[in-house]
Amino acid sequence: MSAVICGTGSYAPAYIMDNDKIAELVETNDAWIRERTGIRQRHIAKTETTVYMAAEAAKRAIENAGISPEEIELIIVATLSSDVILPCSACEVQKEIGADRAAAFDINAACSGFTIAYNMADAFFEAGQYQTALIVAAESLSHLTDWTDRGTCILFGDGAGAAVMKKKQGRHYFSVTHSDGTKGWTLTCKNRLETGMGQLPREYYIDMNGQEIFKFAVRKVPELIREVLQKNNVRQEEITWFVVHQANSRILESVAKHLGEPSWKFPMNLQHYGNTSSASIPLLLDELNRQGKLKKGDKILLAGFGAGLTWSGNILDWGM
Ligand code: UT7
Repeated sequence: MSAVICGTGSYAPAYIMDNDKIAELVETNDAWIRERTGIRQRHIAKTETTVYMAAEAAKRAIENAGISPEEIELIIVATLSSDVILPCSACEVQKEIGADRAAAFDINAACSGFTIAYNMADAFFEAGQYQTALIVAAESLSHLTDWTDRGTCILFGDGAGAAVMKKKQGRHYFSVTHSDGTKGWTLTCKNRLETGMGQLPREYYIDMNGQEIFKFAVRKVPELIREVLQKNNVRQEEITWFVVHQANSRILESVAKHLGEPSWKFPMNLQHYGNTSSASIPLLLDELNRQGKLKKGDKILLAGFGAGLTWSGNILDWGM
């Protein structure tokens, strides 16, 4: 049996902050940010909550899938920036969309969250427990950002993406997930005390060793992609799209180069959204879907990586 994505949705907050606006806060400039990251602007949640964005993305995915919320048996929300600790975002999404039958819970695997949520839903399908799942990734990173730290505030953005998954007859693909807790120190955030752009002690905000994360990504993501291909006996040239976590255009270009692939096979939308952590992959997937770029039978390789450290990937056949 296979898992298929039969609908996608996304939501980006109304307020857009371009690089010039960031340059009013810290010593940086548009040219540096574009050249070193590829980012031109990001959406910032001024009024939207994480749950609101997650529920909007979910509603759009459900509509795109052409199912009713009652058909959903499982909701997984991946987030590192839930509005509150309890109740979990997935239960709030369940309430908002009226998915009364669903079991719902959150996971926090940082930027690998969406790929790991996909793997978990697939595992529930394989275990025979569920047939229809809604996986959502939503982040309000702006509330966790130190707006005086130019090493991080240039990167992050807010948003949400969602996908409806169904169990179907067809080829099953094995997923890959790895973690390295010894490198947890490279990307940390102590706690969530309040929202907004207030100033708390630095450790309460996202703290990152950018160069370490960069080196980790350019080394591990090609390894991850090769491992996913090998595990499933799929040749690299069979993959139509590599949908990789949108952290930095230089990371994506380096991964494509390592694998000897043209950069167009690694689509990018980080110029508009910045790094939205777990939400970046479903935001991009929804964009490609709505632009009609994904054709029936396309093999898509999803690859996430980030804090923890965690990295995770899988393959899916589009529209099968
Ligand atoms: O989702 C996963 C989590 N995060 C990531 O994937 C992030 C991965 N890392 C990165 O994307 C990059 O490391 C950054 C974009 C964060 C930083 O780029 P970099 O090329 O690694 O810059 P750097 O830290 O090596 O700094 C180079 C120079 C330094 O100046 P000097 O010492 O050479 O004079 C920095 O002080 O650039 C300076 N700099 C800046 N200048 C203007 C650092 N940040 C900025 C800035 N604007 N925002």
